[in-house]
Amino acid sequence: MTTALVPGSFDPPTNGHVDVIVRCANLFDRVVVGVVGNPSKSPMFTSEERIEMLRSSCAEWPHLEYVAFDGLLVDCARDVGAQVIVKGLRAMTDFDYELQLAQMNRHLSGIVTMFVATAPALGYLSSSLVKEVAGLGGDVTKLVPPAVAAALKERIADD
Ligand code: PNS
Repeated sequence: MTTALVPGSFDPPTNGHVDVIVRCANLFDRVVVGVVGNPSKSPMFTSEERIEMLRSSCAEWPHLEYVAFDGLLVDCARDVGAQVIVKGLRAMTDFDYELQLAQMNRHLSGIVTMFVATAPALGYLSSSLVKEVAGLGGDVTKLVPPAVAAALKERIADD
C-alpha cells in the first residue's frame, strides 16, 4: 500500500491544488494532504480553516486525509507513514525550487518526491494572486472552489 503526502500552504486552496489532490486520490492507495502552519508567512486562514476548505472542496473523495504540520515536511511524511511526497508543477519557473526541495528532502530522509503537472488551464493560478484579486474586488469564483470563494469574501469583508 502506497501512501502519498500532498503538502502545501493552501492559503487558500485553489482549483489548481484541487486538481493535483484529485489526481493523487485516483493514483495512490492512501492520500494525506499536509497543510503547513507557516507562522512566518502570517497566513490569511488558520490551518484548521484551510483544512475545512480542502475537505469541502474535495468532498467527493471522502477517503482523503488531512493533517496540519509545523516543522520539517519529512517528519510529517514519516509521522503519516508516507513513502511519496507529491507536488504540483505549474511551469518551468516552479521547477528549480521544487527540485531543490525534493533533493533536500531526499537527503534528509531518502523519501521520493513525484511531480504532477498542473492542468494547463490552471497554470497561472496561485494562492497569492487569488488573494490579491479578491482583495481588490475582482471575481475569483472561477479560480477557487465555491467554499473558498465564500470564505475569501467573508474574510475580506471582516478586514
Ligand atoms: O504551497 P507551498 O507554499 O509551495 O508549500 C511549501 C511546503 C509546505 C511544501 C514547504 O514550505 C515545506 O516543505 N515546508 C516545511 C518545512 C521544510 O521541510 N523545510 C525544508 C524543505 S527542503
